[in-house]
Amino acid sequence: MTQRKLFVTTALPYANGAFHMGHIMEYIQADIWVRHERMCGNIVHFVGADDVHGAPIMIAAQKRGLTPQAFVAEIAAGRRQYLDGFHISHDYWGSTDSPENHALSQEVYRRLKARGLIYTKDVEQFYDTVKGMFLADRFIKGTCPRCGAPDQYGDNCEKCSAVYAPTEVINPYSTLSGSTPEIRSSTHYFFKLSDPQCVEFLRSWTTGKGKDGTPSVQEEVLAKDSEWLGADGHLSDWDISRDAPYFGIEIPDHPGKYFYVWLDAPVGYLAALKAWSEKKGFDFEAFLSDPETEQIHFIGKDIIYFHTLFWPAMLKFSGQPFRTPDHVNAHGFMTVNGEKMSKSRGTGISPLEYLELGMNAEWLRYYLAAKMNSRVEDVDFTKTDFAQRVNSDLIGKYVNIASRAAGFIVKRFEGRVNDAAMKDALVEKIRSRVPEVSAYYEAREFARATRLVMELADLVNEYVDEQKPWELAKNPEKMNELQYVSSVALECFRLLTLCLKPVLPATAERVENFLSIAPLTWASAGVPLSSANPIKPYQHLMQRVDMEKQLNRLIPERAPEPEKAPEPALPGGEAIAPEVTIDDFSKLDMRVAKVLKCEAVEGSTKLLRFTLDVGEGRTRNVFSGIQSAYKPADLEGKLIIMIANLAPRKMRFGVSEGMILSASHVSDKAQGIFVLSPDTGAVPGMRVR
Ligand code: MSP
Ligand code: ZN
Repeated sequence: MTQRKLFVTTALPYANGAFHMGHIMEYIQADIWVRHERMCGNIVHFVGADDVHGAPIMIAAQKRGLTPQAFVAEIAAGRRQYLDGFHISHDYWGSTDSPENHALSQEVYRRLKARGLIYTKDVEQFYDTVKGMFLADRFIKGTCPRCGAPDQYGDNCEKCSAVYAPTEVINPYSTLSGSTPEIRSSTHYFFKLSDPQCVEFLRSWTTGKGKDGTPSVQEEVLAKDSEWLGADGHLSDWDISRDAPYFGIEIPDHPGKYFYVWLDAPVGYLAALKAWSEKKGFDFEAFLSDPETEQIHFIGKDIIYFHTLFWPAMLKFSGQPFRTPDHVNAHGFMTVNGEKMSKSRGTGISPLEYLELGMNAEWLRYYLAAKMNSRVEDVDFTKTDFAQRVNSDLIGKYVNIASRAAGFIVKRFEGRVNDAAMKDALVEKIRSRVPEVSAYYEAREFARATRLVMELADLVNEYVDEQKPWELAKNPEKMNELQYVSSVALECFRLLTLCLKPVLPATAERVENFLSIAPLTWASAGVPLSSANPIKPYQHLMQRVDMEKQLNRLIPERAPEPEKAPEPALPGGEAIAPEVTIDDFSKLDMRVAKVLKCEAVEGSTKLLRFTLDVGEGRTRNVFSGIQSAYKPADLEGKLIIMIANLAPRKMRFGVSEGMILSASHVSDKAQGIFVLSPDTGAVPGMRVR
């Protein structure tokens, strides 16, 4: 069999936060596949990188008071513990801000331009004059132009689900500065995907096959692509530029213009391979342009458009040494109890917390493998299901065999197996199924692979149950049988370990160690244990998962919906004003006054003019906006309360020498306005205290 040359990637995570379980799920899927290929003896270069460019990361860095470079370096420094913690075996982890990526992205662009596939067009866009930058739709909010809901995003309304252009939003504002953005024009660069040669190429690529002879994209993905490329379909050209300030890669010869993050992000796959080639010492261009090389991407279902349309087209029309992908393998999303992962709903599982609870990374690898297939299906995580798969299958069926068989071999037979047992019918049977398991891994049918392994484990456990080695061990005349039965079980365990090695790499290593054998590969199926090579004492391989101490802490039972806290009562429609001191209060001089005269103000619908006696031996002229509530004549002769030391205010109709106090609801004019008056017996000039 010829050795395959594989270039494998996982999607480059945005460097704006720590990994979540969705990321880990993708890495586990790709890692299982990659480990299977390595065990086939194939050459694999498996790379990942942080996707660091773009406006959201630039803004997140600003908020932290960091340069974008320092911000993403901090994120990058946190990656290792997750990748190592879950046994993810990328050969190299890079960054899209690497020198290799700057050079390669610019190279791809130059080549597309030389092919006549790049053009410029002026684009009108909102511009934040305070921040001095153009605003992506997500940084604009305003009132929905359809239903009038306030505070909706620049491109869609969460209230009525309308979709619109940011320029249609009513009273738009920038979420970055709060200011009203203005529309400005700027030159943008476009990749001409509408070009007939692009559409034609993509129709053929999406329906084509990889070098292994299987379709490049999954059925469901092809259905989507065909919709996008449909008979009368027409791809829109792709806007690949952004204006400064932008954290990204500059467009050659166009200062102040940067590649949109999705242009340089996939090129980051190549940049990581290049950096790895330099470290490892192989020729990047030779490897990439080798017709034998296969390029395989693992991605989530949300980024199919970028990876099966933009990316193959970019590669195709850039030419050698770039090559189009052999496969883009899309997976579904991880959900928890059937719901989208969300921290606030208690369904966000933190990978670090998982590890900190002492949960074995291989439990998760096994659990996900047991649920993953080659289709674009979501994978649901539930606690009972997890506990069941780990405790009943993994421990109860697989690990159990080793603990039942190895002890006797070590204690009774100096670690030596019975060589005749290596040809037992059960051993042969299990050995004969190993290639099937391998084929399932190859096809990313991990659920089928693990199901078959568990079926085989059932056979071995049945055999041990029937042979009852613990009873043979009591009878000195049955030592030969005991050794034979234990050896059959142990060789079967070796084969099952081989079958599970892509999923359980750390356990496999421990097994290889105690069996004193070379690292297992698919070819090892035909190399049985041998009495010439005694095994070492068995050490416990794996604990059970604890529902109480682990799973229930990882995913707490959902707290009952908190009873809606009663809306705090707002007296008169407004909250009580901030506290003041008695000194603040005594600054206001409020007096009883008598209304000597009250009349409507000509030219005003609100004001009444008062002539007041405040006991000063003179009268005061005061305006008050209560025309809607009182007939002037009804107020004449009344005692009221006024603020007597308010600075005189010049109004259009004269000077107001004080303020009459009245009560009202903050908004509801209909409830009226009520002038304050003292109890009977008060006289003008008395102070309110
Ligand atoms: N930066 C882009 C990818 C650029 S690739 C050139 C991006 N980053 S991401 O961090 O949002 O997502 C990274 C990967 O994680 C994607 O493949 C995405 O589909 C996957 N997942 C994100 N949430 C997920 C789940 N809940 N479940 C499984 N995978 C999920 O997109
Ligand atoms: Zn709306």
